[in-house]
Formats: sequence, structure tokens, C-alpha cells
Amino acid sequence: MSTPLSTVITGIGELVTNDPTRAEQGGLLGLVPEAAVVVEGSRVAWVGPAADAPAADVQVDAGGRAVIPGFVDSHSHLVFAGDRSAEFEARMTGEPYTAGGIRTTVAKTRAATDEQLTSHVARLVAEMRAQGTTSLEIKSGYGLSVHDEARSLAVARQFTDETTFLGAHVVPAGTTPEDYVALVTGPMLAAAAPHARWIDVFCEDGAFDVDQARTILAAGSDSGLRGRLHANQLTYGGGVQLACELGLVAVDHCTFLSELDVESLRDSRTIATLLPGVEFSTRQPYPDARGLIDAGVRVALASDCNPGSCFTSSMALCIALAVREMRMSPAEALHAATAMGAAALDRDDIGVLAPGKSADLVLLDAPSYLHLAYRPGVPLVTGVWQAGRPVVSR
Ligand code: NIG
Ligand code: FE
Repeated sequence: MSTPLSTVITGIGELVTNDPTRAEQGGLLGLVPEAAVVVEGSRVAWVGPAADAPAADVQVDAGGRAVIPGFVDSHSHLVFAGDRSAEFEARMTGEPYTAGGIRTTVAKTRAATDEQLTSHVARLVAEMRAQGTTSLEIKSGYGLSVHDEARSLAVARQFTDETTFLGAHVVPAGTTPEDYVALVTGPMLAAAAPHARWIDVFCEDGAFDVDQARTILAAGSDSGLRGRLHANQLTYGGGVQLACELGLVAVDHCTFLSELDVESLRDSRTIATLLPGVEFSTRQPYPDARGLIDAGVRVALASDCNPGSCFTSSMALCIALAVREMRMSPAEALHAATAMGAAALDRDDIGVLAPGKSADLVLLDAPSYLHLAYRPGVPLVTGVWQAGRPVVSR
């Protein structure tokens, strides 16, 4: 067997590794100044000062620019059809966001062919990749029938192993909540489970209550799916505490939190995944990231890219919002969008640049990662390697 081609990227002005063994000198981000990285096949083979870099088959000069781990976007809803920009316009002139808009997208998604859904997801995944996202989770949730949930997940599976069954997004028209929960936990789960790793529930007023969420997550667990939850997005409620009680890997949104919710998160390993693009796009108050981190809660950032509450695919925007609006430090925000995104998917092979990890690297046209928040809205990503393969070069 031939050894895989090796590449050394030298001249990295500032390297973000997220490697905890480098924390003493490099802080939370495990920063290495004047660095080099060697990639062999799909993995990182070596990381260190450029002056000590070993030789490799191919040499790339970063020209003093910064390199960071690829973003890990642990929450997205990319399988959909249709456009809800008019709903966004109405919100910007005073209408509130409600869960009911989901049904508009369900009708369009059901009417789309598999090919149309696949090419739409491909376009969004390419858009994300060009902005530095190298790993992502994709949920179903706009099919809401046995057939349409299963095919939504089959479409998503073509792009990622991190697929999530969200049949419990809202109760579709023409059925009762009781009948729908029975469908989700029965035939729909059976059809979805072969295509999914995770199960999720929108636990919220107007969607599913805590008891229904508990029932649905338990059924998912019996079918081998791991749980995650949409909770406390629009109102205070019991979703966050349910997630902590069940020891879920992540609970997402966390916009309206009581003191008890924060204590539950602090006393658990459950990660609070904050989605600041949603608050930006719905004019809601932002979650209290600073308070959560200061309380000792594990926090991740993700895009929640979807046609209703937030149609951004930009993790850099989420970082800028987290820093400006939620008082995260730039280092905390980047860590939350990479290493913590990986943790929110229970993955230890991504989100970190260290020997043996997946070679997912992003070259920024900037001397420091700080520019992600310092230069909001500017497309700084100039190179992307995904599992060692150069996939973006501008
Ligand atoms: O995460 N909150 C539930 N689901 C999505 C929005 C879905 C929609 O409005 O289409 C979210 O925000
Ligand atoms: Fe969501």
C-alpha cells in the first residue's frame, strides 16, 4: 500500500489548534504563532513551529495568514423547498416569529422531487463550505409524513453522517397531537431510523410539550437514536431541564432561561447550543451567553440555517453576533463554533488540529482569527481543506 500524499502548510502567522495540551501557552484556542501543519491523507500528521516542520511531498505557504479548524455547524435544517422571505419582511415590520410558519415549508417540501431537494441541499452545503464549515448536522422536519421524513433524511445522508430525525417539528394540519405523536414514535420512526443518528423534538408552545418530548425521545432511544432538543426558544418552559435530566448531548436555542435552567445546565454535561442568527432574524433578545459561560455551562454556537427563523449559513456571522451581542470573547466564540460544535455532536475527531485528527483546516485572509469578529460580513475564508482535500481556494 502506498503512503498517502503529505502536504505541509508553512508560514501560518497564527494557528488555532483548540488542542487542550497547548492551553498553558496558547490559551483556550491552543494558539501557535509562526506555525506549520503537516497533513497526511485525511489526517493531521504534525503541528508545531514552522521552523521545526518536517518535509512533505507538497508545500503550501500561508504567507503569514491565520489558519483555524473548520467550523462544525451542529444545527441546521437544510432539507426544504420554498422561500419565506415575505415572513421575514413582516417580522422586520413588527410581526412576531411563530412556529406556524413551518407548515408553509412543509407544503413546498412535500411537493418537491428528491432531485430538487438534493440539489438544493448541495447548493447550501457548498455555500457553507465556501465559508469554512467542514462538518455539519442536518435535520429533517419539513416532511412530517412517513414518506417525506424518510426521504428528507435519505437526502441529508448524502451530505453528512450527522443526520437528525425531527418528525416532531410541529403537528401537521389534519391530525391531532395524540395521533401525530403515535405516528412519530411508530411508523415514522421506523422509516427514519435507518437514515438518522439523532432524534430531536421542537419542545415549545405551539409545537410539543415536555411530556410529548419525553415520549418521543424515549422511543428514539429504543430505536438506537441519540437525543437532542430544541428548547426555550420562544418562551420559558421545561425543555432545558428535560434535556439535562436525560443527559442529552446538547440542547439548542436556550433563549429564555430561568435560574433553575442555568443550574440544571451547570450541573450536567449537556451543551447549550446558542443560535444567535435566530435572534438576529427574529428580533428576539439574545441568549445570555456570558451568564451561561460564567456559570460554568458548556456553550456551542451553530447557524440553525433554515427558511423560517434564520436563513444564514455563515458561522462567521454567528461568531460576530456572539461577540458583539452576547458578550462572548472572540476566543470563546471561535472555540464554541469549532471544538464545542464537535462536542455537541459527540465527536472527538473534528474541531481540533492535532496529530490524528481530521485535517479540516480553514485559511483566513487575515493575520488573526480575531478578524472573524473584527471584520463582520467580510468573506475572509480563502482556503479550505476537508479531510485533507483542498475544497476551496480563492
Ligand atoms: O430551529 N424552532 C424550530 N425550528 C426552526 C425554525 C423552523 C422554521 O421556522 O421553519 C428553528 O428555529
Ligand atoms: Fe433549529
